[in-house]
Amino acid sequence: MVRISDIRINYEKEPMGVESIEQIGWVIISKEKGVFQQSYHVQISEDERYENLIYDSGVVESGESAHVEPEGVKLRAAKLCHIRVCIRTTDGEESGWTESHFLTAIPDKREWKAEFVSIETEADKEKSSGFYLRKEVALSGEVASAYAYTTALGLYHFYINGRKVGEDEFTPGWTSYNKRLLYQAYDVTEYLTEKRTALGAIVGAGWYKGVIGMARERWHYGDTAAFAMQLFITYRDGRQEVVLTDDSWTGAESPVEFSEFYDGEIYHAGKEIPHWNEPGCTNGEWKSVHSISFEPSVLTAQSGARVRQIDRLPVKRIFQTPQGDTVLDFGQNLTGWVEFKVKGKPGDVVELNCFEILDAQGNVYLDNLRGAKQTVTYICGAEKNVSFHPLFSFQGFQYVRVARYPGEICPEDFQACTVHSALDCTGVFECSNQDLNQLQHNILWGMKGNFLDVPTDCPQRDERLGWTGDVQIFCRTACYLMDTYTFYRKWLADLAADQTKEGGVPHVVPDILSGQRVPNEMTKKGVDSAAAWADAAVIVPWTLYLVYGDKYVLKTQYDSMKAWIDFMVNHSENYRWSYMRQFGDWLALDAEEGSYLGATPNELTCMAYFAYSTSLFAKIAKILGREEDAEKYGQLFCEIRKEYQKTFFDEMGHLNVQTQTAQILTLYFELSPEEYKERVVEDLLKLLKKRNGHLATGFVGTPYFCHVLGQNGCTREAYELLMKEDFPSWLYEVKCGATTIWEHWDGLKPDGTMWSPAINSFNHYAYGAVGDWLYRGIAGINSDDEEPGYKHIVLEPQIGDLDYVRAEYRSQYGVIGSYWIRQGDRIELKIKIPCNTRATIRLRGAGMLLENDGLTVLETSWGMELTADSGEYRILYALK
Ligand code: BGC
Repeated sequence: MVRISDIRINYEKEPMGVESIEQIGWVIISKEKGVFQQSYHVQISEDERYENLIYDSGVVESGESAHVEPEGVKLRAAKLCHIRVCIRTTDGEESGWTESHFLTAIPDKREWKAEFVSIETEADKEKSSGFYLRKEVALSGEVASAYAYTTALGLYHFYINGRKVGEDEFTPGWTSYNKRLLYQAYDVTEYLTEKRTALGAIVGAGWYKGVIGMARERWHYGDTAAFAMQLFITYRDGRQEVVLTDDSWTGAESPVEFSEFYDGEIYHAGKEIPHWNEPGCTNGEWKSVHSISFEPSVLTAQSGARVRQIDRLPVKRIFQTPQGDTVLDFGQNLTGWVEFKVKGKPGDVVELNCFEILDAQGNVYLDNLRGAKQTVTYICGAEKNVSFHPLFSFQGFQYVRVARYPGEICPEDFQACTVHSALDCTGVFECSNQDLNQLQHNILWGMKGNFLDVPTDCPQRDERLGWTGDVQIFCRTACYLMDTYTFYRKWLADLAADQTKEGGVPHVVPDILSGQRVPNEMTKKGVDSAAAWADAAVIVPWTLYLVYGDKYVLKTQYDSMKAWIDFMVNHSENYRWSYMRQFGDWLALDAEEGSYLGATPNELTCMAYFAYSTSLFAKIAKILGREEDAEKYGQLFCEIRKEYQKTFFDEMGHLNVQTQTAQILTLYFELSPEEYKERVVEDLLKLLKKRNGHLATGFVGTPYFCHVLGQNGCTREAYELLMKEDFPSWLYEVKCGATTIWEHWDGLKPDGTMWSPAINSFNHYAYGAVGDWLYRGIAGINSDDEEPGYKHIVLEPQIGDLDYVRAEYRSQYGVIGSYWIRQGDRIELKIKIPCNTRATIRLRGAGMLLENDGLTVLETSWGMELTADSGEYRILYALK
């Protein structure tokens, strides 16, 4: 029996807030083997009975099940639409309809009439406190449907009749606000049960107005926080009403006395206005609001990737430090907040200091937080049991010092809650080596900790910025672990919006460095366009294309990508380019003592990435049918490569830069003359041997290290590198008890000392980029450039020193599985291929095939190649 599940609109299931439908996709499920779609039929309607269709594809003869682009669909504001899909397989089996739904946004911006309202005045500019807003409306009948559209200049929580609307946190998210401001959509029908309905919001400073950036400046986007809301109500009798934020709203001071990302929150419960967001409230002093002018054309409905509270962790242990502090240990470094219970007398105080690591003596260590106070202070109001967590601030921590707390501290009264973009988990990796499993865990938790609306470098110190290099490095790994499409697309739109006129790409996106009022050491040297960082403009869309097969993102980012390549062209002479501040092979261990820059010279990093991004861009132009660009940039790539070879190769075929990273980039970016490739590999092995099999690479070389070894016949060395347990290595961190990935290989040194507190995060996902090799190398789950998005799966497990591996990736076609068990030279490989896809299975080093489960086999010089249509198979073979 064949059936459809997971209908997606613009890569989202049941999206709330759709402005236009770009793509529709679905998963086909069947127990049969070799199931392919022959045709599909999609209908979209504004009513549940599909009587008023706004789209009917008819039966379309097509195998496309992931990127169906419906033409001519006109969406009206605030409609709950219904969508159904059915398919027929090539064997003639019909799936029957499967239904889903979505809520439209406000596609025509002229219909956005809500004003941004605030009570803040000139005197509040320096404050990062919160304020209440409220309005009561009288409903004039029974409500059939109600949809709310909300946003803020700052951060907001929205309530109807005392209940928070939705579960989202840190709305409206962080974008380049003056160019793109997101609004959220909610179905609030079931909230409108009272005849008199109270609408309320609490608004905070957030990224918009509060302090952000190492220079600790505020007002990056504006100095007055404000809120806007538009509520569409339809009554049972068909009448419609729109309620808006306008000057009829009132506002009051709130109990949030202070709240910012770095320093935490001060909440004075005594200042709460009882029932402030409920109907009939007469408490408190309410004043009239004023409106803030804001250009509605920059409003865009948020698609997916909403930030939510996700996990809850209990206290693992409570202890006293040698210095006498009471500390809670949650056993996991994480990003979010502590939720605690307390019952104090009015004025009693709870003060929690959140931090990542203990010092060598086991005392509270705050130095690596730099200026970030990470302190949550709660001042008790009336004497009653309350439960609290900050409203507008998050912390990066494993430990919490309970600096003040009324009464006895009971561990059960504290929980650590993770807060991050709620993306579906897509990857599973488990193997016979427990340390590797812990590494996979640490990579995942590094991602959880740094995917809070924007991809950040770290969640704890006074930074937490969207460093483009970190994003680019980790992107492929992230795509294995979670469904990142909507998350990255949002960020890429900001990258494009924040590019310089010349096409330069900011070091951080959203870019808050270029507008810094008082330049500091960091910004004086340049705020955009560093090799490997700025290349995120090309590498991230390309990765999304490989993983999702999505041409839409290539189209929307096309001008941005091209502008970045042209920027390099315009700043180059003879294909060597440089520009202001470069980060080189950031934090590599072959750096000079005390330096952050690795030994690989900038000239090489710049030219290597220039070549790589250009080669990708030429491919992209070809994919989109832009032949002229494909030709032009293809040619440009050849010329850069020629110059690279001339500059960096000697006549013996060795690179004149003998660093691990130089060899790695040359091989991974295919920059070596074919005849010298082996020599580069040999040199890499020599450089590895010189360090006794350890890496010395930084942000630039590390991600590709294992790939390059595996791709060049050195799988054994790749495993050895991965499995090293002493410093420096991934498992060294694991052996030290790490629960996330560290920023520095030597964040915590073998002698117990730490790297300088100026830049030493213990939750930095960058080196977690090796996760890509766990999935793509060890498990061998790979997509094919020619048929991307795992339409054609290439399964090429690299067998090494493990007894078993169990890996899965939930692609947009369904689950791909690669499970292998090794007994001496015998390998049992089980695979899972989703419907409507096919796979090529490459068994490198296979000598004899013992069972092939009916699959076609081709013997090759390097092993065996099998081809499989969808289904589950078991293959048994012996290594040579
Ligand atoms: C960040 C990095 C970033 C780097 C660039 C650091 O402060 O934490 O991850 O890429 O700066 O210099």
